Order: sequence, then structure tokens, then C-alpha cells
Amino acid sequence: MGKIDPKELIERVEDVPSLPEVAVRLLAMLNDVESDFSMIERLLSSDSALTANVLRVCNSAYFGFTGRISNLNHAVILLGYNNLRRIVLMASLKNVYSRRVNGYSLMEGDLARHSLAVALAAEALAREVGYREPDTLFIAGLLHEIGKLVLGNYLESYYEAVLREVSDSRMDFLEIEDEHLGTNHAKVGSMLASHWGLPEVLVECIGAHHDPRLATEYHAEAAIVHLADHLALMLGIGWGIDGLKYTFHSAAVEGLRIPEDVIYDIMLDLPERMKLAEIV
Ligand SMILES: [Fe+2]
Ligand SMILES: [Fe+2]
Repeated sequence: MGKIDPKELIERVEDVPSLPEVAVRLLAMLNDVESDFSMIERLLSSDSALTANVLRVCNSAYFGFTGRISNLNHAVILLGYNNLRRIVLMASLKNVYSRRVNGYSLMEGDLARHSLAVALAAEALAREVGYREPDTLFIAGLLHEIGKLVLGNYLESYYEAVLREVSDSRMDFLEIEDEHLGTNHAKVGSMLASHWGLPEVLVECIGAHHDPRLATEYHAEAAIVHLADHLALMLGIGWGIDGLKYTFHSAAVEGLRIPEDVIYDIMLDLPERMKLAEIV
């Protein structure tokens, strides 16, 4: 198997995980100030299985309204629009995210857990810096590894060599991907996000999650996802073949000016907040 042309790869639809229609529509309206509850209602109106799942999550003990939410109207009143949108998004991504991703040695559910941990950490960090749309950072965290879904099968052909380089070389994991595939999961993820028409802030956060310097406009956002990713990795949430083989860009993170003890607390809170992963 030779080098991959990421652009070609993404256009070959059969290799690309198709994001459920509901998720694509929800994500595309992220920046849309006009988007409101009626849009969610309309999106869910034709998908009763997804609606049932959303209501089940809304009624879980995690949110504290057990058994009290019988329809989407109740859900939006008790949980708020942003929470409801987030639950719909997570429920719609469930099938795509719970698969194993072979080339990266991610077992069933690993990608979902890692993505949720990064989403929660990124959101908490965003609140800390006073970012006006912490929900956007949550979603960026949720999607940051989406490129792994595309490259997993390709990377699997180099499994032995990759494993050897991870343990014996000083290469960063992105360099290992670049060496074998001619591209890496951050690059492919950002191309996929723009192929899906997602807002630019998400495209940049995905593309720059291992190196915030690559962001052209959304530096702080990319730095937040970068830091959140490392917090999840330090806790060992969602380790695959790559483990911790990534460069930490401390200068970008220092630019956020979040006190170290606050960062530490956010990391320590993660396992508790991760209980959300068990119910969606
Ligand atoms: Fe990554
Ligand atoms: Fe990650």
C-alpha cells in the first residue's frame, strides 16, 4: 500500500465514515444564531429510535430528572437547549464511535470514551478562559480524532512497523503516520470536517489538535483542545497504539493563562464527569 492522497481519500465515499444526517445538520447549524429548538424537533421527527434514545439519556440519573422527561419539550425546558443539542449529537454519533478502530488499536468504545473526555475537559477549560461558546469546544473535543476513523484500515497494514517505531524510535506519532501514509489523522480529520461543511473553528481545532501552531485563526481554541487531549491521555483514557507519543506544545498552552492548579482540578474531575459516557 502506497502513500495516500487525503483529498482523493475523502472523495472516495466508501472509505469515509458517513456521519449520520442528524449529526451533520446539528453541527452545521452550530454557528447559526437562528437555530433553535424547533430545528431539533424537526430533525428528530423522522427518527423515533434516536428520539427514544435521547429521552432515555435525558431521564438518566446523571441529569437529576429521572423519569420526569416525557418528550422533547420537557427536555429543553429542564435541560436547556445546549444540553439537549449535545445529547442528540452524542446519541447520533454512538454507532460510528463505538466501533473498534484497528490500525490504532482502539477497542470497542475507546474512541467514544477518549472523545468524550476531551470534550468535557475542553469545555471546562473554555469556561476557565471566559470563552463565549464553551459548547463549541465540547463539540471540537468530541470530533478531534475523527480522522482516525478514516485512516484506521490503512494504518493497519503497517501495524508491526508502527508498533516498533512507537517503542523504539523518538518519532512523534504524527511523524510515524506521515512516514507510512503520507498524511496523518489530524490532517485527514480537518479535511473531512470541511468536506462535511462544518464550521471553520471545528475544522481548525481538529487539524491543529496535536500542534496548535497550525491554526490560522482559532489559536486559543486549538490550544484548548490540545491541552484537553493531553489531560485525557495523562489519565490513560482512550490509549491506543499511539499512547502518549505526541509532542506537548507548552508555549501554546501557556498562552491560555490558566493556572496550573485549575488545570489539575479539571483533570481530576474528569473521571467523575465521564459517567456520562456510560449512559449515552
Ligand atoms: Fe489525535
Ligand atoms: Fe485525542
